[in-house]
Amino acid sequence: MTAFKHALLFVIFYLHACQCMASSWTVDIPSSVKALVGSCVVIPCSFDYPPPVEEVTQFIGIWTDETSHVIYHPEERKALVQYRNRTKLLGDLRQKNCSLKIDPVEKSDKGPYHFRIEMEEYNKYSYKEKTVSIAASDAPEPVVFSVKEEVVVAESLSAHCSVSHTCPYTPPVFTWTHTGQAQVQHQKIGDALWRTISTLTFQPRHSDNNQLLQCTVTHRGGMQQNASRLLSVKYTPLIKNSSSCYYEGPQVKCICIAESNPPSEVLLLLSDQVLPDIKKEKFGLLTMVTVQTNIGFFSSVKCIANNTMGSTDQLLSLPHSKFHIYAGVGIGAAFLILIALLIIVARKCSHKSHNSEPTSYKQNHDRELTAQYMTQVRIKSADVHYTGSYCSDHTYGNTENFDPDDDAVYANV
Ligand SMILES: *[C@@H]1O[C@H](CO)[C@@H](O)[C@H](O)[C@H]1NC(C)=O
Ligand SMILES: *[C@@H]1O[C@H](CO)[C@@H](O)[C@H](O)[C@H]1NC(C)=O
Ligand SMILES: *[C@@H]1O[C@H](CO)[C@@H](O)[C@H](O)[C@H]1NC(C)=O
Ligand SMILES: *[C@@H]1O[C@H](CO)[C@@H](O)[C@H](O)[C@H]1NC(C)=O
Ligand SMILES: *[C@@H]1O[C@H](CO)[C@@H](O)[C@H](O)[C@H]1NC(C)=O
Repeated sequence: MTAFKHALLFVIFYLHACQCMASSWTVDIPSSVKALVGSCVVIPCSFDYPPPVEEVTQFIGIWTDETSHVIYHPEERKALVQYRNRTKLLGDLRQKNCSLKIDPVEKSDKGPYHFRIEMEEYNKYSYKEKTVSIAASDAPEPVVFSVKEEVVVAESLSAHCSVSHTCPYTPPVFTWTHTGQAQVQHQKIGDALWRTISTLTFQPRHSDNNQLLQCTVTHRGGMQQNASRLLSVKYTPLIKNSSSCYYEGPQVKCICIAESNPPSEVLLLLSDQVLPDIKKEKFGLLTMVTVQTNIGFFSSVKCIANNTMGSTDQLLSLPHSKFHIYAGVGIGAAFLILIALLIIVARKCSHKSHNSEPTSYKQNHDRELTAQYMTQVRIKSADVHYTGSYCSDHTYGNTENFDPDDDAVYANV
C-alpha cells in the first residue's frame, strides 16, 4: 500500500515536472509580416519538439503553403517553380531556428505559410497551428528625416534619415546630397521589422543656406525613396564686393551691400558719425544702403552690418579724383608759405612798431596788409620769392593789380 502511494506520488511529481520542462511540438512565428515587393523579407521562426531518446543528426526543414505545396525545400526542384531560388532557410535547424527569407518578394506571396520538420530516425511534424501571412506592398514605409531648424554656419550639424524595412541582411542604402561623415545604425524594432538610420554630420557653409538637404534611400531590389529639407543656415553679415564710394558732383555717394541670414542692418559712418541714408533696400538676404555726403578730406567711409549672429565692418575707400589731389597739394603748399610769411612779417613789424604812425592810418594799413598777405600767399604759392618789407608802403608795388575782393584769386587755389 505504501509502495503504491509512493509510486503514485512519484508519477504525479514526474508528470508535473514534465509539464513544466518538457518541450513539445511548438513553433513561434509572427502571424503576419509586411514586405516590400521587390525587396526581401525575413520571417523569424523558432520551433521545438519533444526530446528524442537519441540525438537527431539529420534535419530537413520545409516551408509549405496551406495546401501543402512546398515553397521551400533544401532540394530546390521539390519547391513550387515560382518560389525556386527566392526562398532560403536562414535558420540553423540544430538550434531549432527555422527563419525563412524570401528574396525578392512578389506581390503574390501572401501565404499563409507554415513550417514542417523532418528528423531522420525520429519524427516528422507540420506546425499547422501557427501560420504566417505576408502583406506585400509596392509602397515602402515613409522615410523619417530630421535636422535642426536653426543651423549656424560652421557649427557641426547632424541630419538623420531613417526607414523601417524587412530585409536585415541587405538593408537599405542611404545617399546624401551633401558631403559629410555618414554613419549607419541598424535596429530591430519588431518581430520581422528593422530600422536603418543614417546620420550625416557636416559643417554647413553659408552657401548651404536655402539649399535642399536630401537623403535618398535605395531598398534591396532598387526601389528608391527620398526625403529632404530646406536648410536655413544663419551667418554673420558678409559685405559684398560691390560696395563702393564714388564722386557724384562735389559730393560722394556710398553704397554698402551686405548679405546675411537673418538679413542685417547696415550703417555707414564717416569718422564715427552715422550718415543718414538716402536709400535703403532689402532683397531677401541682401540689404543695400546708400548715403550721400560731403566727405571733406576723409579718405574712406566705414560700412557696418549686423544681425543677430554678429557684426562685420569694412572701409569703403574713395577713388582719388584730380580735383582733390590738386586741391590737397595746393592747400598744403599755401599753408606752409603762409606760415613762413607770417613769421617774416611778424619780425619786420616788431622792428617798425617803434616808428609810431597815426592810429587811423595804422588800422587801415593793417587791414590792407592782412588782405595782402593772404593774396601774396595765394599768388606766390608757386613763386616763392619776394623783396621788400610788407610793412612799408613801397611794397604795394608788388601787388599793383591786387583787388582784395577778387574771388577769382581765391579760385586759383
Ligand atoms: C536559381 O539558382 C541557380 C543556382 O544559384 C541558378 O543556376 C539558376 O539560374 C537560378 N534560377 C533562377 C530562375 O533564377
Ligand atoms: C535564427 O536565425 C536567424 C538567421 O540566422 C537569426 O537572425 C536569428 O537571430 C535566429 N533566431 C534565434 C532565436 O536565434
Ligand atoms: C524624390 O521622390 C519623389 C517622389 O517621392 C520623386 O518625385 C522625385 O523625383 C525624387 N527626387 C529625386 C531627386 O530622387
Ligand atoms: C571681388 O571682386 C573681384 C573682382 O572684382 C573678384 O576677383 C573676387 O573674387 C571678388 N571677391 C568676392 C569675395 O566675391
Ligand atoms: C545691430 O546693432 C545695434 C547696436 O549694437 C542693435 O541695436 C541692433 O539691434 C542690431 N541689429 C540686429 C538686427 O541685431
